[in-house]
Amino acid sequence: MSAPLLREYRSTLPHEFRKALLRDGAVMLRGAADPELLDEIHRQLDRFFAEYGKIQSSDFERNMASDDPNERDFWQQLKLGHVYDRTFKPFSGISYFDVIRSNGLWDLVARAFHESPLTESATTNCRRMTMDDLPRFYDRPLEFHVDAQIFGVHQLSINFWTPLMACGVHAPGVKIIQLGVQETKEYLEFNEAGHEPAEGDQWHMSKFRCHKMTLPVLQANGLLERVQLPSFDKGDILAFTNFTMHGSHFVPSMTEPRTSIEIRVDLPAFPIHAPQAKAAEPAGAAMLAN
Ligand SMILES: [Fe+2]
Repeated sequence: MSAPLLREYRSTLPHEFRKALLRDGAVMLRGAADPELLDEIHRQLDRFFAEYGKIQSSDFERNMASDDPNERDFWQQLKLGHVYDRTFKPFSGISYFDVIRSNGLWDLVARAFHESPLTESATTNCRRMTMDDLPRFYDRPLEFHVDAQIFGVHQLSINFWTPLMACGVHAPGVKIIQLGVQETKEYLEFNEAGHEPAEGDQWHMSKFRCHKMTLPVLQANGLLERVQLPSFDKGDILAFTNFTMHGSHFVPSMTEPRTSIEIRVDLPAFPIHAPQAKAAEPAGAAMLAN
């Protein structure tokens, strides 16, 4: 059986966006971001990394071992090419959130999930990835995971993931398993109280059966057929939730590095633990075209 095609959103109707996101865990929004704004963010990030690149390695190492947890986090994240919006915004005068505010996506999501306030996530950041010897300010590809296992299971979040250059062919992209939010929680045996912690569990990992995201187990459950490996042009946005299985899409022929931004919005009042989260949609919702 071939994989179902990744659904692409071609409408501005909030209830369709909501329905597709909850049903598939992800929605591709082709050409949704302003390429000129992405270019400007790219330029400002290059300037940011150039400034911090002047810092001597010994000073950098010392900062990464700071007694202050916020300072420690800042430098450790920076080493991996992660720059939070709260750092980038005062530096550049631009917020990553401008990408989804300027094109109306913020308002669309607010309407689609009207039972909850919509808030900016503090985890919104950028990410630079390469597979060569890891230079300063770069990270390596990640295997399948759900963001809720890291950031917590208390709310629904949507990640508007967009690269600052074309990726998924010559530069690493992102892979996702097209599976509904409720179905993913069931597959991973989500348990808010937590399972017996497995070896290596940290953060919120014990609330899921994380081993079920390894390739042999995904294959045994027929879920590799649902893996999507989209290619991205600059301006394409992949929206997916913090309960959507995803990881880096990397093959050895991808020799170019990649920078992406992960614009996360939180929906703290969305009833994530209620079964109706699976099917919540207004009557008369139109079907989404494939
Ligand atoms: Fe992630």
